[in-house]
Amino acid sequence: MLHNSLHHRGSHQANTPATPSSEVRHSLDNPTHVQWSSERALAGAIYGFDSIDPRSRSFNLIRGRLLQLMRQRGSRAVGVVSATPEVGKSFVSANISASLSRDPRIRTFAVDLDLRRGSLTAQFGIVPERGLSEHLSTGTPLETFQLNGENLTIVPTMGGFMHSAELLASPRAEAFFQTLQSSNDRDLFICDLPPVFANDDAVAAMAHLDCYVLVSEEGRTTEREVRDAVAALGRERLAGVILNKFRGGLVSDGYGVDPYYAQGYGSPTSPR
Ligand SMILES: Nc1ncnc2c1ncn2[C@@H]1O[C@H](COP(=O)(O)OP(=O)(O)O)[C@@H](O)[C@H]1O
Ligand SMILES: [Mg+2]
Repeated sequence: MLHNSLHHRGSHQANTPATPSSEVRHSLDNPTHVQWSSERALAGAIYGFDSIDPRSRSFNLIRGRLLQLMRQRGSRAVGVVSATPEVGKSFVSANISASLSRDPRIRTFAVDLDLRRGSLTAQFGIVPERGLSEHLSTGTPLETFQLNGENLTIVPTMGGFMHSAELLASPRAEAFFQTLQSSNDRDLFICDLPPVFANDDAVAAMAHLDCYVLVSEEGRTTEREVRDAVAALGRERLAGVILNKFRGGLVSDGYGVDPYYAQGYGSPTSPR
């Protein structure tokens, strides 16, 4: 029963009352438009917008996998995690979001849930007056941003020291996550998370999300860290593992990204 229930969206939060926030919904649907250009994308190391760029290839493969999960399991909130910091989670989050934004059938949101070390603002060059953590702590309206000319909306957070565990356990966070979960079928939320072993935040947030992509770094992330992270988050919800090769050299600038076993375990087609 438990095994089966993990395969259905939302069942892991069966005890949570459904209380989506109409304010959050309004913010998601009414983003501020910000200037955007392919030059800016490249300056922020975001290659996923350009399907001709060979550096977008790995992200396009992950995109295919996430669209499959969306279709087959109704997944719509995806966490991007790693075992330890600085392996490229935010880089991967931004690029997966950019790649997904090319698909006109869906509407993609990049949500910064790394409340203490939010970095999507810097990557996309957005300067918000307030972020998700301010909304969660004080209830100020959420500010969202759509990149001009792109089908991508950013939900930023400012970062800084805060009681992030309490914020993620607050009634406003419940309402926020419920809003994502009760969203339109076309909406897909890519949620950049802190490392699994930094504090409780990634595990707490994952309780509200449907599946996750685990980012690891070649020569740095150990097999044991990957195993422990998967054990902490649940194997059934693993959408894929990305091997981010900082110094790998698969592509021209000396960096490479491999979606290795993106089709591996956790696949809905694998035997249960
Ligand atoms: N494959 C890559 N190619 C180029 N730069 C990368 C790559 N992966 C990560 N980086 C850079 O490394 C730094 C750390 O990555 P980041 O995504 O912030 O890590 P995390 O979110 O896991 O802490 C950032 O400056 C990011 O732009
Ligand atoms: Mg990060």
